[in-house]
Amino acid sequence: MNVLLIGSGGREHALAWKLAQSPKLGKLFAAPGNPGIAEHARLVDIDPADHRATVDFCLKNSVELVVIGPEAPLVDGLADNLRTMGFAVFGPNRIPAQLEGSKGFTKDLCARHRIPTARYARASDRLAAEAALEEFGLPVVIKADGLAAGKGVIIAQTADEAQMALSTMFDGGFGRAGSALVIEEFLTGEEASFFAITDGQTIVPFGSAQDHKRVGDGDTGPNTGGMGAYSPASILTPELERRALDEIVEPTVRALAKSGTPYSGVLYAGLMLTEDGPKLIEYNARFGDPECQVLMMRLESDILELMLATARGKLAEVPPPRFSAGAALTVVMAAKGYPDAPEKGGSIQGLEGAAASGAKLFHAGTALADGTIIANGGRVLAVTATGPNVAEAQRAAYRAVAAVDFPSGFYRRDIGWRETARAL
Ligand code: AMP
Ligand code: GLY
Repeated sequence: MNVLLIGSGGREHALAWKLAQSPKLGKLFAAPGNPGIAEHARLVDIDPADHRATVDFCLKNSVELVVIGPEAPLVDGLADNLRTMGFAVFGPNRIPAQLEGSKGFTKDLCARHRIPTARYARASDRLAAEAALEEFGLPVVIKADGLAAGKGVIIAQTADEAQMALSTMFDGGFGRAGSALVIEEFLTGEEASFFAITDGQTIVPFGSAQDHKRVGDGDTGPNTGGMGAYSPASILTPELERRALDEIVEPTVRALAKSGTPYSGVLYAGLMLTEDGPKLIEYNARFGDPECQVLMMRLESDILELMLATARGKLAEVPPPRFSAGAALTVVMAAKGYPDAPEKGGSIQGLEGAAASGAKLFHAGTALADGTIIANGGRVLAVTATGPNVAEAQRAAYRAVAAVDFPSGFYRRDIGWRETARAL
């Protein structure tokens, strides 16, 4: 079977690597892909924002399944148009993708179905936002409603900071995403990411992970797309995972099915593990990046079989995903200046040596120039290794990181610290 993979990041390299292991795979195409993905797929120069061109490509190349990696094409309705043309698609349609595309949509759905989440108010102008602020103590969380590349969340510690956050949002600091806001109660606890795949009816857990969103060691500095991750997150015990499934994910999937807009694909629940149990912080309508890299390293099942069954509404008919009992950990190597102004063009050497130990070096923002790999984005590589536990996976990943020669890059030195501290 021929497959088209949409996307160009570390997440998509991990998906391409795993798809390429499937005996069911015919040709794998990737649009636009990256030099790492090119080891497994033919890169094609179509713009996923051009739905007609994407459909035409699939028709001409006998593509049967389209796997959509990032959120933007999902929120933009690419899956809807492909499905209308008869293709199987891994990824939700435009309306169910609003779980990620609009924080207000998700909060309202949670309120209607009593799904545990932070208390909230929505506001679409300054006056309403100021009135809403009065209903919350400090710190208070102020979020742009729309997609903001993981950066549209401000945690205000003081009333002044809250006012400044409103100014940033309403003055267009997050573009159109910030023209409507969600203001919500600050939750305390440890965060964990929980994944499930669903065809709209059947829901199966797809593992857990913990991300490191801040740019600096010790979780300091500005938020990023994610500087590293590990899986599984042992803090999400089987009992808590059961609760997250029963109290959060399942009522969400049921509600969307009931309203005639079923969710199909992977649903990523960002959870806060509070004293009262798991609460939803946010949903994503796709795999996390770099969480996907650690999940794919642990997945023993055929990802193509699972994606196809999901896309065809037959998830109940295939064996549930199996993951290795061990751990995986990934360290993101970013270009200096990330997340504000990453330096482009820095050369990267030593990738083969670094991979010799069995680590996988997933490409995120790389390009090929005169036969050498260079940095071409903020997050550049996701250096990923496995081990019997998180501490061993961490050692293996950092050994591989040390073998990469990337003078204009940097990375966090403490990925996995919560888990290794727990294990002591
Ligand atoms: P989000 O983009 O919604 O995942 O938010 C980014 C980060 O902000 C989360 O990973 C949390 O660390 C933090 N955050 C978001 N909402 C809350 C909340 N209600 N209480 C505490 N922290 C939050
Ligand atoms: N690593 C966080 C995300 O993919 O949203």
